[in-house]
Amino acid sequence: MNPGKKKGRYERIYKQLRDLLTATPNPISRMATVAAVLHHKMDGFFWTGFYLLKGDQLLVGPYQGPVACQELEKNKGVCWSGINLEKTLIVPDVEKFPGHIACDSRSRSEIVVPLRDKNNYIIGILDVDSKEMDFFDDADAECLERILSLI
Ligand code: SME
Repeated sequence: MNPGKKKGRYERIYKQLRDLLTATPNPISRMATVAAVLHHKMDGFFWTGFYLLKGDQLLVGPYQGPVACQELEKNKGVCWSGINLEKTLIVPDVEKFPGHIACDSRSRSEIVVPLRDKNNYIIGILDVDSKEMDFFDDADAECLERILSLI
């Protein structure tokens, strides 16, 4: 998708979600809504969802796409790296990421964006996978971070 079209698409999604998320403050309901809207409105999002911290476990939350791993081995893979480094990570080629956890062998590239509560503590992470190599860029990072601030 060209950069202008992508920004426009994200802008419309942001506004739609801002309206939809007034229905309830419940974070799980909001995550489910964010995953559904992103997955169905962004071309090329193959798996779109959340992994949530529960103690020292990282467990799958609301998602759209093929069945995924329910628990991610501690401190391994892209999601745990995003949590531990407390930042958005773009992985252009999952096979080159040490320890990458392949829940579905069709995923080729990935972006993860930490999710924070109102006290700024990380409570989980948004993970989006694509079947295309090098699919995500800084515009995805910026727009997804903005969308997560709605939750
Ligand atoms: N690839 C992730 C695991 C989650 S799935 O992509 C849905 C990781 O390495 O943490």
